[in-house]
Amino acid sequence: MKKYIYSTLIVSFTVFLFLGASCSSDQSKSNNNALDAITGSSFTLKVINQHNTPENCWIAINNKVYDVTNFIESHPGGDSILQGCGQVATDLFEEKDHSQRANELLADYYIGDLNNNTK
Ligand code: HEM
Repeated sequence: MKKYIYSTLIVSFTVFLFLGASCSSDQSKSNNNALDAITGSSFTLKVINQHNTPENCWIAINNKVYDVTNFIESHPGGDSILQGCGQVATDLFEEKDHSQRANELLADYYIGDLNNNTK
């Protein structure tokens, strides 16, 4: 009986540790961006240009910057969103006649503002 209790405890502890580790690694992926948004970051075009891949995709729309990396797979318009990665894509986004829902969705990915200072 004691043996059973001990093994149950060990299994629960291992599961607990595993869950803790996966949660914190998920957080670390996006935390910097979340923190930037909270502290009111602004990003120059030069910085935005560096986030130009499907694994790391920032898009500037109407002077706001969005990290849409985690949205790419579920974008209803498919890979076309990739044209906007690392770009100021206001025209591109508006040309596609996105719905109000799409515009509201942007808020979920907001990380800061476009810094128009080119220096
Ligand atoms: C800037 C680059 C982007 C391009 C070129 C683009 C292109 C498109 C296209 C062509 C469609 C039409 C799909 C269809 O009706 O078959 C579409 C739909 C959609 N896109 Fe994008 N998209 C872009 C960025 C975004 C972003 C940043 C979001 C939101 C975070 C978004 C959200 C949506 C949604 C929700 C739809 C479904 C239709 C609607 O509600 O308007 N797109 N997109």
